[in-house]
Amino acid sequence: MGSAFDPLVTPSNLTQDELKKRAAYKAVEYVKSGMVVGLGTGSTAKHAVARIAELLRQGKLQNIIGIPTSTTTHEQAVSLGIPLSDLDSHPVVDLSIDGADEVDPSLNLVKGRGGSLLREKMVEGASKKFVVIVDDSKLVPHLGGSGLAVPVEVVPFCCDFTRGKLEELFREAGCKAKLRVKEETVAVTDNGNYVVDLYLERDMGDLEAASEKILRLPGVVEHGMFLGIATTLIVAGKSGLLVQNR
Ligand code: 5RP
Repeated sequence: MGSAFDPLVTPSNLTQDELKKRAAYKAVEYVKSGMVVGLGTGSTAKHAVARIAELLRQGKLQNIIGIPTSTTTHEQAVSLGIPLSDLDSHPVVDLSIDGADEVDPSLNLVKGRGGSLLREKMVEGASKKFVVIVDDSKLVPHLGGSGLAVPVEVVPFCCDFTRGKLEELFREAGCKAKLRVKEETVAVTDNGNYVVDLYLERDMGDLEAASEKILRLPGVVEHGMFLGIATTLIVAGKSGLLVQNR
């Protein structure tokens, strides 16, 4: 694993959103004309989408095809005039850029607190290069240890049954599994599914084993742990940009 540190030349009183933008702009430096580019979802990724559109308008990038990871990103990209396609037509993606909710030292991620984990995993898993962009608040020693949730996308059919089974799986880690609710109604993903959020009091142990256990449960569609998928991490902190490769 290699890393490089790039001090910011701007004042150190940047807001969290400005840090996200720094990381996003740095990631867009990896985009070259003619590439098929996975477009991530969230408040960090939206800066990358906007930057790609800006470079296309300026003629500094040409012939980019974007593969959006959510309906929200699809709408943003369409409004900015980025040509779009999908994995059916472009099963190999040159490069994806997306945010994350947690990043561990091996570049494993938790994603999906914005609810787009399935499409993100499909697009980013099909990418030759996946650049993750975060501000330094997202760095954790172990996934699932930040007190925030590990999301799991489940089918609506008997979702409380699946929720209970997920809670049982990680009982030893003090798991509380909660069906995600937004504005007092159950949150529905772009795929018409629900999300169960796993809140863990303790580390869930071996991540690959945890992943297998979750995916084996009937009713589960996908989970938000992205293990071994990210190839590059760009972290923006008050003192600079850190670029780390796997
Ligand atoms: C959405 C995601 C986002 O990438 C993740 O939630 C990070 O979002 P943000 O950049 O807004 O912090 O996985 O499903």
